[in-house]
Amino acid sequence: MHELNKTNDYSLLLKQAVALIDSEPDRLANMANLSSFVYHMIPDLNWVGFYLLKGEDLVLGPFNGLPACTRIPLGKGVCGTSASRKQVLNIENVHLFEGHIACDSASNSECVVPMIYQNKVIGVMDVDSPLLDRFDLELEEFIIGVVNELLKRWD
Ligand code: SME
Repeated sequence: MHELNKTNDYSLLLKQAVALIDSEPDRLANMANLSSFVYHMIPDLNWVGFYLLKGEDLVLGPFNGLPACTRIPLGKGVCGTSASRKQVLNIENVHLFEGHIACDSASNSECVVPMIYQNKVIGVMDVDSPLLDRFDLELEEFIIGVVNELLKRWD
């Protein structure tokens, strides 16, 4: 079912993601294209996007998927918890995560990667799936790779 779960496929996809952002200095444009790329290239996802830290809130940034909540306080939901703990959260079943914020009722699993720049959290990349336990280690590492490539080009 998941044809793309081989490390080689993900390494090729990561190269394509890098090619999308490599010659463009604008962060917003790059986050927009990365959201679209991951959403369209990886099967069984219903939401892919970024939240950026503004004060004490994560504020909705570029994404693909249904309209989502615009503001998530640090420490709240999967996104706010990932940001405050500076930790990747790979949630097999979001309905079992205390405080999960259901933006799209179709979501059943979720992977959130904190964006850490110069030792500070500046946002998160959030990826949702309608399948339970969608995010195997290879896919989690691919999403971490996408965030790393974006942040390498942040300044
Ligand atoms: N589920 C997230 C909220 C963001 S939406 O999934 C796009 C959370 O609990 O933080």
